[in-house]
Amino acid sequence: MPDKPKVFVTRIIPDAGLRLIRERCEADVWPDLNPPSRAELMSRAGQIDGIVSLLTDGMDAEFMDAAPRLRVISNYAVGYDNVDVPAATQRGIPVGHTPGVLTETTADFAFTLLMATARMVVQGMDYVRAGKWTTWGPLLLLGQDVHHAALGLVGLGRIGTEMAKRAKGFDMRVIYFDAFRQQDKEAELGIEFLPLEDVLRQADFVSLHTPLTPETHHLMNARTLALMKPTAILVNTSRGPVIDPDALYDALKSGAIGAAGLDVTEPEPLPADHKLLTLDNLVVAPHIASASVATRDAMAVLAAENLFAGLEGRALQATPNPTVKPRFS
Ligand code: DGY
Repeated sequence: MPDKPKVFVTRIIPDAGLRLIRERCEADVWPDLNPPSRAELMSRAGQIDGIVSLLTDGMDAEFMDAAPRLRVISNYAVGYDNVDVPAATQRGIPVGHTPGVLTETTADFAFTLLMATARMVVQGMDYVRAGKWTTWGPLLLLGQDVHHAALGLVGLGRIGTEMAKRAKGFDMRVIYFDAFRQQDKEAELGIEFLPLEDVLRQADFVSLHTPLTPETHHLMNARTLALMKPTAILVNTSRGPVIDPDALYDALKSGAIGAAGLDVTEPEPLPADHKLLTLDNLVVAPHIASASVATRDAMAVLAAENLFAGLEGRALQATPNPTVKPRFS
């Protein structure tokens, strides 16, 4: 019997996928809560046939060059901005990711953040915990209405589309900007395409659903934040660096925008003493938009399947570099 392929799994992922990987591979699983250091990662590069990486692991050319046996990088995330995909393509290494299985769960959470921020759920909990709840208050924690408000989507991919559907259930007007206008979806969902600036000017809520690319890095900056209504709420479940954090701080502090709900931040993790956390018109979650039991299981199974496909020389189910032909050892 041929030796099992050697793989490095950079964190404990749900057993639904990890069990499969352990059955079919010789798996070295990083046991800590925090990611392996660069040195730990590099020390394994020379021996592995495959890797299951997380969004916290830099899969760059240096790592790939140190890994001559590497036949697949299976990223346990839909986003793959941690992977240098052109470098992988150049080296003939297929990259896997996990789209589709987390779409609705992530949209649920984006809408949760939107609601929680608009209606001051976290501030309410803090108020109760602090023992400040002495009576019913006519002016206590007045938020923004969600129903019938205008939702501006920046990005109309899978998750943005699901967000639009949720918003329609709240009778919202949905406007969107995307580099690719999608007229079929406009008709189907009853949503309107506008240039980015107009989306920002007209929306009561702006929700970001773009990948992180050089074009979207700090897309929300002092200039674009200034276009938003002073009451508007910014929601980000995409990637932290899509927003310039200094500009966001200034906009929230000065009242240039109303509030923000973030699942992703720059830097990430956000240190507890970060200036953004001194603001009371901000809700932050620790990058948990896809964190439901069922979705994380499904991501683990898909990451395992992408890994096996790469190791066995088959086409990956979900890959940003489909032109790479996987090679069998
Ligand atoms: C992703 O998949 O890219 C998320 O950020 C984590 O689920």
